[in-house]
Amino acid sequence: MNPALSLLHPYPFEKLAALTQGIVPPGQLSHINLSIGEPKHPAPAFVLEVLQKHMSALGQYPATKGIAPLREAIAHWASARYQLTTAQLNPELHVLPVAGTREALFSIVQAAINPQKPNPTVVMPNPFYQIYEGAALLAGAQPYFLDCSASTDFIPDFAAVDARVWDNCQVLFICSPGNPTGKFLSMECLQALIALADKHDFIIASDECYSELYLNEAQPPVGLLQACQALNRLDFKRCLVFHSLSKRSNLPGLRSGFVAGDAALMAPYLRYRTYQGCALPVPTQWASAAAWQDETHVVENRRAYREKFAQAQEILQPHIALQQPEGGFYFWLKTPSPGVEFARQVFSQCHITLLPGEFLAREGAQGNPGKDYVRMALVADAEQCQEACHRLANFLGNR
Ligand SMILES: Cc1ncc(COP(=O)(O)O)c(C=O)c1O
Repeated sequence: MNPALSLLHPYPFEKLAALTQGIVPPGQLSHINLSIGEPKHPAPAFVLEVLQKHMSALGQYPATKGIAPLREAIAHWASARYQLTTAQLNPELHVLPVAGTREALFSIVQAAINPQKPNPTVVMPNPFYQIYEGAALLAGAQPYFLDCSASTDFIPDFAAVDARVWDNCQVLFICSPGNPTGKFLSMECLQALIALADKHDFIIASDECYSELYLNEAQPPVGLLQACQALNRLDFKRCLVFHSLSKRSNLPGLRSGFVAGDAALMAPYLRYRTYQGCALPVPTQWASAAAWQDETHVVENRRAYREKFAQAQEILQPHIALQQPEGGFYFWLKTPSPGVEFARQVFSQCHITLLPGEFLAREGAQGNPGKDYVRMALVADAEQCQEACHRLANFLGNR
């Protein structure tokens, strides 16, 4: 087997299972899981209806490129969302459906890394979504971590990175809104990164899977395609964005998202994907097209998260300093004791599972940037989130 497989780290949830193993939480409290980022709001009924209606299409092999109506719906959605006027997305050239962003974030690195260049490197934030690191390791590249801590306002300090790192960089992962920090990258930052990518010849892979979950309805996060538009970069050169229906539309089980951007990258990536064999079933594609064409359910989804964040803040604020995220559905909570210890105690006393921040990060020059944090996903329904916050408030109050 490929020896690089042994380099893969255990997934954060494996570490979490080991942390809580053998602990017997209070029997009278039901378990509330706030560790995993799995949306729990109901899937939109109209999408499920479309899925059902097209079930007979399971009798045909799907094409990797996807059906034209889906690619058109995606191009239309992204053009409206990011005000792409002159930088136009051609559904034939710039868009590919993917089976959720996870597989795409992984496979793009396999397709992109050129092992013949010296020191292939994939640069990524720290803490981060672990797929970025695994993708780099299995492609024979070196992951390079950019710490996101309070001192960098929880976004990578791109300007501090040595030019030699950028020279070796073949793929830069960015994530906005960030998981777990919820931070947005600004238009200025995205434009500066595009200039860096041109100077040092690397691809920017922008993970925007939380882009539709933002707290201020009037301030959606900007995206990399929008930065291309602002620069009049009509070919989206070196830029790829990754979007998903999992969080936007509460369809994590549908396994549906898209990659869009530079046609010169998309064409060889499609060739790669044809061999990998990850075409979306046709009913999934029709259901996805319907989901991308509707915004009403997405507005309602944001409203539900906004309400839960406000409720959590009201209950917890007297006990712990809480920062509302700009986007996403996580609190990145600074803990009064190391995050691992805090998570263990909260599990044993409150029967609530939180994810220790250090499981989402690697040691950097200043230690592990997740060490004093836990990630708390407000994915459960409002009632459960409220109950969890009351238990936490009690726990914090009794410390
Ligand atoms: C930052 C980030 N990127 C990508 C994904 C993958 O999502 P999906 O494959 O459901 O689109 C997740 C899932 O939690 C995530 O947190």
